[in-house]
Amino acid sequence: MASRRAAEDLIAEGRVQVNGEVAVLGRRVDARRDRITVDGTPVGTDPDLVYYLLNKPAGVVSTASDPQGRPTVVDLVPSTPRVFPVGRLDASTEGLLLLTNDGELAHRMTHPSFGVEKEYLAHVEGSPSPGALRRLRQGVDLDDGPTAPARVSQVAPDALRITIHEGRNRQVRRMTEAIGHPVRRLVRTRIGPLRTGGLRPGEWRPLDQEEVRELERATTGPSRRLARRALKRSD
Ligand code: URA
Repeated sequence: MASRRAAEDLIAEGRVQVNGEVAVLGRRVDARRDRITVDGTPVGTDPDLVYYLLNKPAGVVSTASDPQGRPTVVDLVPSTPRVFPVGRLDASTEGLLLLTNDGELAHRMTHPSFGVEKEYLAHVEGSPSPGALRRLRQGVDLDDGPTAPARVSQVAPDALRITIHEGRNRQVRRMTEAIGHPVRRLVRTRIGPLRTGGLRPGEWRPLDQEEVRELERATTGPSRRLARRALKRSD
């Protein structure tokens, strides 16, 4: 928003704040994670990056194009700049999906080492017993290996709230099948700090700066710190 010289003047005049504190010259900030204001007005992150939160309806596919001609999630959001979905939901799964052109954040959001939590409401066949719920919580054996422990609560006899931090293919469906209670309807209700709020199926909204910063923080795990350290060492 200003040349380096002009920015230094703004800082010297005490008009810049970082996370609510008056900025000082030379202090390092991360423009994507720290809240920076000039005269109280937030300074944007990269204006070319866009982030949309979509409430995906059933029947829409999470890929950019579908050989079977079904509608895709990118058809539901603005076409420019081009965005792509962060991870996937099955065509019949409903709920929250993030779309962005920020490849770096997308990579971290989907990388298992960052363990971003995803919460689902699963309407299942029958009514799982306490023993079946315990198996889900402890981890069940799937053909690609055991699942990590999950948070599970029974919100109705046939409805479970399941929170996982892995992103394996059809994971929730396979988990509930493994305990003998296949999913009848599956809705993703939370991605990290992002909840459905008032978004109805088919609706989307842009994330605000604070939400983007929260996602940055949610994906600043040990792996990122280690990666940074490794980068520093190779400088
Ligand atoms: N788990 C599934 O089984 N399907 C989804 O779409 C998402 C998570």
